[in-house]
Parts: sequence; structure tokens; C-alpha cells
Amino acid sequence: MPSTFRVAVLLSGNGSNLQALIHKQKHFNYQIAGVISNCVGAFGLVRAEKAGIDHYTLPHKNYTDRKIFDSELIKIIDNLQVDLVVMAGFMRILTADFTRYYQGKLINIHPSLLPAYRGLNTHRRVLEAGEKQHGASVHFATEELDAGAIIARVSVQISPADNELSLKQKVQQMEHLLYPLIIKWFAENRIQQKNNVVWLDNKPLPSLGYQYTHQQLINQAKG
Ligand code: GAR
Repeated sequence: MPSTFRVAVLLSGNGSNLQALIHKQKHFNYQIAGVISNCVGAFGLVRAEKAGIDHYTLPHKNYTDRKIFDSELIKIIDNLQVDLVVMAGFMRILTADFTRYYQGKLINIHPSLLPAYRGLNTHRRVLEAGEKQHGASVHFATEELDAGAIIARVSVQISPADNELSLKQKVQQMEHLLYPLIIKWFAENRIQQKNNVVWLDNKPLPSLGYQYTHQQLINQAKG
């Protein structure tokens, strides 16, 4: 029998994505081996504690040198012996040493239809720009912020009644369906990255990754 696919989750705050990943782990055949936060008091750590998952705090404020912080982070992750490192609201720019070390095994979720709207305050910026569509993307992480080959995106429609909070809720609801599903794909060995191209089931994906609409993702999650 193959051993369980082990995942480390990195986060900085609330951890609603962690909660969604915890909820699906048994059903989707992966195991969250540990949760690591760079922020003391992150609510995600409370969620990990409640779920009986090992958790660690590595306060970035204690490190003036990014390289030393990242090498300490590597030590914690490697002790957990994981197959995949999952950033779920981990608000740190990583060094190239770190991202190269975990190349092909380090993923991030970002609240926009990448490559548009990298960085912070995506919901506000999307509304200010008068966009009709928004969404979330899962991608391989590189040292460049919210860059790296895109694995999948889910789009949501913006309605005239939407504000920053309602849009955030819409997008996060989709993130909570998308992220566990992508980790399931990894656990089933369906995803590879070759020369910055993402392959799903031995076929290259388009550069914007696998596309879900809001409704397709809801249907998929039910199935
Ligand atoms: C999520 O919406 C995630 O996409 C975003 O932070 C939020 C964390 O929420 N990540 C980024 O912006 C990365 N650039 P959570 O702590 O409730 O999961």
C-alpha cells in the first residue's frame, strides 16, 4: 500500500484555507503533517492545534537576514518529511535558494486571476478597475511574488452589488474548493512541472492552467 501523501502548510494569518485543507484531507488521501507560521498568534495555528496537527512558529521578526530565516524554515519542513509544501496565505517573499530547493514541490494560492493583480489588496484593485471577472489561482511558487507556472484558476463573476468584503468571500469560497482538489491531484501524481510548463495527466496545460468557472468547481466538488 502506498504511503500517505504528506503536506506542510505555511501560513501567516486566519487559515481559512488550512481549515478547508483539513476538512478534505481524509477524503482526498493526503495528510497535513505540520503547519508553520511566520506570525506569532496567527489564527491558523489555533486551527492546527484543534485538529491535532503539529504546528510551529518561526517569527520572521527575529531574523534580519532572509536567507537565515529561509534555512531555518527548510529545517522545520524537512523534519516533517513532506511530499508537497503548500503556502496558504503565507505572506512572505522567499529567497531563490528556498524556492529552488523545493522546485516542483512548492505551491501557492493567490486571490486573483493570475498573471493579473499580483500582490496585496487584489479585491479592492479589481473593483477599482471596473473588472467584470475575478477569481483565484494556484501556481508553483518562485522567488518572484505570485509568479510561477499556473496550475489552475477559478473565475467568479463580479456583480454591481459587490464590495471588497463580498468579493473576498466569493473568492475565498472558491479557494476552499480549489486548493484541496489541486493537492489531491498531486497526491495522485497527476501533476508535474517540466521547463516551467505544468502537465496534468501527462498532457501539457495551457499557460493559464486548468480553468474552472465558479459553477464547474462547485459541481466538481459535489462529485
Ligand atoms: C487567501 O485569500 C489567499 O489567496 C491569500 O491570502 C488569503 C489567506 O486567507 N494569499 C495571498 O494573497 C498570497 N499572495 P486564509 O488565511 O483565510 O487562508
